[in-house]
Amino acid sequence: MSDPKPAQPLVIAHRGAPGYLPEHTGEGYDMAIRMGADYIEPDLVFTKDGHLIARHDHYLSTTTNVADHPEFADRKTTKDGHEGEDWFSEDFTLAEIKTLRARQAFASRSHAADGKFEILTFAEVIKLAHGRTTMSGSPVGIYPETKLPSYFSALGYDFETAVLGELAKHGWDTPGSPVFIQSFEDGILRSLRAKTELPLIMLLESAEGVDMKDIATYANGVGPSKALLANKDGSSTGFIEAAHAAGLKVHPWTFRSDMLPEVFANAQAEFDFFFDLGVDGVFTDFANDARASLLARAARSD
Ligand code: G3P
Ligand code: CA
Repeated sequence: MSDPKPAQPLVIAHRGAPGYLPEHTGEGYDMAIRMGADYIEPDLVFTKDGHLIARHDHYLSTTTNVADHPEFADRKTTKDGHEGEDWFSEDFTLAEIKTLRARQAFASRSHAADGKFEILTFAEVIKLAHGRTTMSGSPVGIYPETKLPSYFSALGYDFETAVLGELAKHGWDTPGSPVFIQSFEDGILRSLRAKTELPLIMLLESAEGVDMKDIATYANGVGPSKALLANKDGSSTGFIEAAHAAGLKVHPWTFRSDMLPEVFANAQAEFDFFFDLGVDGVFTDFANDARASLLARAARSD
């Protein structure tokens, strides 16, 4: 018998709860879980001594108070692929990273919690989620993203071993574990396919040259920019249909209630539009708004 209630789209807490608190902090992830997230998303980069930490970027100036630490002034440097000088995660040991505190990345959002919360390791993010349950009683999951895998590989770091090893320590390395692994680079996903049965998600900024059938050979879903999904008149671009035809889930990013596209009157209207379009999950800075939209839809269909 088929399930009488179709699966609800997943609420993926993009970088925790950065609409309210500095991104990738324990306090932010915890808030997102309490707001109704199904998954929390740590972006991952390496420290000098090989620890994975939750940061969106390997440069540290925009999301930490590193600039306020005179003892690290001489670490400011330039790197290939990054414009201007900055401080970089791979030049700091984990012990040094732990002396920094997180700050809100967006000028337009509250900075009340700047300087209060520490930077987390991937292990600490897993521990934070492990054993927690969602509003529907399922395990809260994690949705790690390998940031700059080719860059870190060239420096001698092994993302695949580090991520899979950390997941294995917590028993989250087997099929059915509440884990998705994502990347903008197909190379690491193709390689991971041979090493894990965990679902893999290919992130896409553009639809140009995208071959869903090829992606389906190594991934279980795609994480597109939401801009790829609908035409200006509100019709589907066909992206979701093509992904689904290839057996791929579709988890678009990024839903930001405080930076809505002009066509939507409020966050619920935007979520409703994309849920109607057929997405299987949403990356959002505002997990509370995504959950509220899903609850309202469920109430309307009862
Ligand atoms: O990983 C999905 C989405 O987060 C991609 O964008 O740049 O916020 O990591 P970014
Ligand atoms: Ca991400």
